[in-house]
Amino acid sequence: MGGILLHDLLEKSREVLKQAGHDNVRLDVRILAEFTLGIPPIDQALEGNMKISFERADLLMAAVMRRKEFEPISQITGEKEFWSLSFKVTKDTLTPRPDSETLIEAALREVQIKEDAAKEEDAAEEKGIFPKRILDLGTGTGCLLLSLLSEFPLASGLGIDVSQKALEVAKFNGRNLKLSDRAEFKKSDWFENIPQGDLYDIIVSNPPYIAYCEKNDLPRDVKDYEPEGALFAKEEGLKDYKLFAGELAQHLTSNGFAILEFGYKQAADVKNILKYSGAKKVNVFKDLSGNDRIALIYF
Ligand SMILES: C[S@@+](CC[C@H](N)C(=O)[O-])C[C@H]1O[C@@H](n2cnc3c(N)ncnc32)[C@H](O)[C@@H]1O
Repeated sequence: MGGILLHDLLEKSREVLKQAGHDNVRLDVRILAEFTLGIPPIDQALEGNMKISFERADLLMAAVMRRKEFEPISQITGEKEFWSLSFKVTKDTLTPRPDSETLIEAALREVQIKEDAAKEEDAAEEKGIFPKRILDLGTGTGCLLLSLLSEFPLASGLGIDVSQKALEVAKFNGRNLKLSDRAEFKKSDWFENIPQGDLYDIIVSNPPYIAYCEKNDLPRDVKDYEPEGALFAKEEGLKDYKLFAGELAQHLTSNGFAILEFGYKQAADVKNILKYSGAKKVNVFKDLSGNDRIALIYF
């Protein structure tokens, strides 16, 4: 039977990516080889003498050629892990970022603080469920809402987006993660289709926040492949906060909070927008690289 040794095939794949100017070629090829050949990384390392048929080798080379053009790994494999859950990703959705997990951590911590305070206040009193309802503005793959629902089994929530194609992906992810009975997704331009009087305990959002003038500084994987409507906002990346910040308070329960992601240079501006919108308390948290990234807000 004709074919190529796995070791040689992996080497050739790494060489193609290296020549194209990629940095993490080992990791990229490891993931693509697992995806196309079904060979786990440990076997890729130990079974280099395994013969791969030319037919199967072509599957890996086709994926490598896509990566060569800087298509994101997540769009080639069609998935990305976030908060230890697997999310379907397409060219219509932002690939979930590890930094956005900071948002989930901050929400969990805040709920824990509330629970501890409630216990101290009066252990016997019935405190009710918190959070009961969660809203995710600009839900994309649904990663923020669905990760929170996976942590709060008594909660339900709504994810909105202007992109119908993104909403289809979010619905798929809801079903795939067996959370669709608690997660609704619908089209809305920020609060436009959210009825007055709909109240939420937690409102999360990772809106578009990159300024258009920064486009050329972005890596090719991002600027050439991720949806523009998920990345960029006018007014130096602040337009969307200005559009929806004023309506957060009307849709939060009395002890509810909002939690927003922003660009690493935007903390002061975002704080000002929130204060102007009536926020009483704004706490800023850092991401995995130590940059200001998250605002937790009470009105
Ligand atoms: C930065 S992405 C975040 C996606 C996802 N929440 C995440 O964290 O990976 C921003 C999302 O906001 C959506 N979006 C942009 N403008 C919007 C608007 N006016 N109303 C609702 N959603 C909007 C985009 O389609 C995109 O899915």
